[in-house]
Amino acid sequence: MELLTVTTGCQDWAGDLLCIGFWQDQVELTGEVAALDARLGGAIQELINETEFKGKPNSPSVTRLGSGSPVKKVALLGLGTAAKATLESYRKAAATAAKTAKQNKAHTLGLFLPLTDQPTDALTAALSEGILLALHQDNRFKSDPEDKPPVLEKVELLGIEGGNAGIEQAQKIVSGVILARELVAAPASLVTPTTLAETALSLAQTYGFNVTILEREDCERLGMGAFLGVAKGSDTPPKFIHLTYTPAVTPKKRLAVIGKGVTFDSGGLNLKTQGGIETMKMDMAGAAAVLGCFKALGQIQPPVLVHGIIAATENMINGHALHPGDILTASNGKTIEVNNTDAEGRLTLADALVYAEKLEVDAMVDLATLTGACIVALGDDIAGLWSSQDELAESLLQAAAVTGEKIWRMPLEEKYFEGMKSPIADMKNAGGRSAGSITGALFLQQYVQKTPWAHLDVAGPVWSEKGNAYAGAGATGFGVRLLVQWILSQ
Ligand code: BES
Ligand code: MN
Ligand code: ZN
Repeated sequence: MELLTVTTGCQDWAGDLLCIGFWQDQVELTGEVAALDARLGGAIQELINETEFKGKPNSPSVTRLGSGSPVKKVALLGLGTAAKATLESYRKAAATAAKTAKQNKAHTLGLFLPLTDQPTDALTAALSEGILLALHQDNRFKSDPEDKPPVLEKVELLGIEGGNAGIEQAQKIVSGVILARELVAAPASLVTPTTLAETALSLAQTYGFNVTILEREDCERLGMGAFLGVAKGSDTPPKFIHLTYTPAVTPKKRLAVIGKGVTFDSGGLNLKTQGGIETMKMDMAGAAAVLGCFKALGQIQPPVLVHGIIAATENMINGHALHPGDILTASNGKTIEVNNTDAEGRLTLADALVYAEKLEVDAMVDLATLTGACIVALGDDIAGLWSSQDELAESLLQAAAVTGEKIWRMPLEEKYFEGMKSPIADMKNAGGRSAGSITGALFLQQYVQKTPWAHLDVAGPVWSEKGNAYAGAGATGFGVRLLVQWILSQ
């Protein structure tokens, strides 16, 4: 599909579907749109009147024009309040335009929006992201996809000069988001630790990353008892994945991104039950975000060195599975009484964090579908953010404001670690019922000594039961754009 900017506006555009954006309560026709309306014999004003269109960001008003018209259909898009406009308003409007084009089986789409003072490349990037993400659909597992692939061949962003760099950047980043979505959406029988390792190897081959896959024995030698404890109950071997992107220039910063890679979380002997277990193929969404981020980095080539680390395993039950009450020793020597085998993510991450810190990076960020408690606290749309350093937290919040992925800072309340104390080992792996996402973060903090570190609990936003503005139901690819934006902002 071709995606380009065109300096001329909507007045002379010809094609299948023309989407025109309006700020809320500002639907007076002026300038180009007024001229177009005159040419169309007042069809736009009629549509506004008939549908009582007010510019609210909900379903667009669409009409078919006479067969003689160079524009076959017009859609009015509501952008919401002008005063609250962000890049996300444009991203969502573009996504709605793309979905409308798909529903109307348009081959060509023209998008004409009222512009604000956003820098051109940031604007075209946001518009392209909205379009490309909304058009992505995963038909891999349908024998006869009812949802046929879109016929859209060409999208023109009207009335914009330049902005090609933004479009290209968005294409690179979206390819990473789609990789993440497809890894998360695929069943656990297909995406195993081995699959994640193979994905890392193939990215390394394509983009020239360094890659190391540590097998169980290698991890044993490194003393990764916490990670390997989780892997004990699975018949599928664990893989510890380490990717490195090294820029051609002297790196401005050295960073590590770490993803929870539990390819299926049955809960272990603290078995999950109905309502909790069905979606647990998504428990590797942090790992998927890291791999998606690397796919984007390989194409963008920013001047920053980035390590990607994934301790991949299943959390399953066989005769070797962890017993509740078992004591594990992590690679930093700390001992853990496993009082709940379902608090496995933090066990895998403990060894991943110890490993990452040895790489002597300026900052490290982990993404993990760590706790149901984070969903209780922040809902499905917002990830929790914990950080040992304000500057790092701030840089992540700023990146999230650009990408429209919502994150909210939560406290590392030390006192709550009391509930994790064990009479027999250095700590337990699970605290009580209250502040479960905070105690999860506090557990991870035990495995970081001095490197600035941030933890994102992404249990909610990586999965959407109904779909959202630019993702269908299921895997959203949350975190990829955020990681890339954060890395680029360094
Ligand atoms: N993978 C789950 C967390 C999760 C729940 C992710 C729902 C996405 C949706 C994690 O391993 C888990 O089971 N956490 C436990 C921790 C508890 C035992 C301390 C939880 O949230 O119940
Ligand atoms: Mn679990
Ligand atoms: Zn889990």
